[in-house]
This record gives sequence, structure tokens and C-alpha cells, in this order.
Amino acid sequence: MRAVRYGGYGGGAAALKHVEVPVPSTKKDKILLKLEAASINPVDCKIQKGNLWPFMPLKFPFIPVCDVAGEVIEVGSAVKNFKPGDKVVSMLLFMKGGGLAEYAVATPQLTVHRPPEVSPTEGAALPIAASTALQALKSSGAKFDGSGKPFNVLITAASGGVGHFAVQLAKLANLHVTATCGARNIDTLKSLGADEVLDYRSPDGARLHSPSGRKYDAVIHCTTGIGWSVFEPNLSENSKVVVVTIGPMVFLKSAMKMLICAKKRVVPLVAIPKEEELRFLVGLLKEGKLKVVVDSKHLLSNAEDAWAKCMEGHATGKIVVEM
Ligand SMILES: NC(=O)c1ccc[n+]([C@@H]2O[C@H](COP(=O)([O-])OP(=O)(O)OC[C@H]3O[C@@H](n4cnc5c(N)ncnc54)[C@H](OP(=O)(O)O)[C@@H]3O)[C@@H](O)[C@H]2O)c1
Repeated sequence: MRAVRYGGYGGGAAALKHVEVPVPSTKKDKILLKLEAASINPVDCKIQKGNLWPFMPLKFPFIPVCDVAGEVIEVGSAVKNFKPGDKVVSMLLFMKGGGLAEYAVATPQLTVHRPPEVSPTEGAALPIAASTALQALKSSGAKFDGSGKPFNVLITAASGGVGHFAVQLAKLANLHVTATCGARNIDTLKSLGADEVLDYRSPDGARLHSPSGRKYDAVIHCTTGIGWSVFEPNLSENSKVVVVTIGPMVFLKSAMKMLICAKKRVVPLVAIPKEEELRFLVGLLKEGKLKVVVDSKHLLSNAEDAWAKCMEGHATGKIVVEM
């Protein structure tokens, strides 16, 4: 029997309960991990609030969080590429969660080896946030094989989990980056490579005006509450606004732009985790080309503090729980 934490619908951080459940058993196509770290994403809180109802969770008790790093303890008979003792980064199945626990069952297809240069905290910080940043940039036209042309990208909420990876990945793709964040994070974003940083509470920041007068060829939009009329005057003729904070209005706007064949487009992005991208991102961490900004680390026994921080929506980088 092992200690885990789980959350239910409708509660805040206090709804997380400490419960004992058996260590899960390993099916033939799965691997059992002893977890070392997990990171919380805003979507975990949205699941707890019931925002993704009726899709999930499928059954209770539901142990939240998908992004983990740990050590392989046991492998199913059909698993060939992992063995006990391997250190890994994994994204647990979204519909099942399981990351705020000492043990979790992972799928080999969403698990990659973690080299010694990458700490459990760094590894656990990656899956959802960095994959979203990478896929949003690819969707905007960025290339990571050296074949792309430079262009101007605006990254909103660049101090958050997704945004701080997007800034670094955009620089690796040779883009000119204008980033928005609160005043307290301006230096952090400059240190991550942003060329220009706007305080979103300042008048120029609220208007998204590039300090150098640039028009944006792409936007990676990681927050809400900014209308099309604010973006529009800052966009170049054929620009794409890739929106990761999706909702019905974003899909509607996107469809309307397509219907009228608008040159300035809105692209809703739902990140779909891919093993090869996770391996690419772990490789960047290993080579020191990508850094994880850690907002705060919490023990599993204090997971409710980490949860409360995520719910506040003011993280700088990633919130991590260590086991
Ligand atoms: N579509 C997908 O597949 C997908 C995947 C991952 C995430 N998401 C969504 O993407 C959003 C961002 O995720 P995240 O993990 O990056 O969130 P996060 O880490 O919670 O973001 C927090 C950061 O955003 C900053 N921020 C908030 N409002 C801002 C604004 N108007 N302008 C500039 N900065 C602002 C905050 O700065 P201050 O503290 O200074 O306010 C804080 O540093 C969430 O809504 C999440 O659910 C979607």
C-alpha cells in the first residue's frame, strides 16, 4: 500500500486528500514507474474544476497530473525498449492521470529515456508545457532543422510554463521574439533570449506594440482576454495567431477567418503529445540549449500548496512536486 493524493470535482487545493492505494499492477504493454517528480499544469486544475466534463475524469478516485519523471521498476512482457532501473520522462495518459503519487503506470509510447544531465525536476517540467510550445511554434511556421527563414513572433504570457519554453524554442528556430509578461519577470525573459519584452500592464504592453515597431508574422497566444482588435493592427499581412488557450469563441473566430479567406488567421492548437518531440526536448535540455525555470518545488506531502499556486495563475515557469 502506498500514499497518494487525489482531487475531485469542484474543490480547491483543500480538496486534495491523502489516501492509501495499492501500487498499480503492470499490464503487458505498460511500465511501472517509481516517481521522482511531477509538474502541475493549468489543465490539471481545469479537470478538477469540472471544465472538461463530460470527457473526464472517467472514474473516481482520480489522481491528477500527467507530467512525470521517475525510474522504471517493472516492465510488461511486451515492452522491449525499457528495463528496470532506467530513468525516464513520461506523460501519463491524459484521461487517467496518476502523477501525484509515489508510483504510476506509464505507456512506453509516451515515455523517453532521461540522461543523467537532466534532473527529475527538469524532466517532469517538460511534457505538456514544452510540447505545446514546440507544436505551437511549428504550427506558426517555425523550423527546427535550420531550414526556416527568420520571422517576428509575439509570445503572450511568456513567463508561464508554456511561454518560457516558447521563447527559448523560438530563439532556437532563429526567430525575433517579442514577449509579454508582468514587470517582475522582464529580466528573466531577457535572460531566456527574448529580444523585446513588454509589461502587459503598461499602455504599450496592453496594445502589444513592439518597441522596435515590428509587425508580428506569428503570435503564440498563451493567455486570455486580448481581443482581435488589439492583435490586428500589430500583425503583418499573412500572420497566424496560434491560440493555446482554446474555447468555443476561438474555434468560431478561426472558422470565420477561413470562411472569408482572411490572410491573417487564427489557429486553435490542442497539443497532442508525441514521443519523438519529447525525445527532442529532453535532448535540448541535455545539451543545455533549453532551460527550465522552476517557479517552486513542493513535497508530495504538501501537494496542495503546489496545487494552490497553479490555481492562482501567477507561476513563473513550472510548479514541481518532488516525491
Ligand atoms: N491547448 C493546449 O493543448 C494547451 C496546452 C498547455 C497549456 N494550455 C493553456 O495555456 C495557458 C497557459 O499555460 P501555462 O502553463 O503557460 O500557464 P501558467 O504557467 O499558469 O501561466 C502563468 C503566467 O502567465 C502570466 N500571465 C497571465 N496573464 C497574462 C497576460 N494577460 N499577459 C502576459 N502574461 C500573463 C502570469 O504573469 P503574472 O503573474 O505577472 O500575471 C504568469 O507568469 C493555460 O490556459 C493552459 O490551460 C493549453
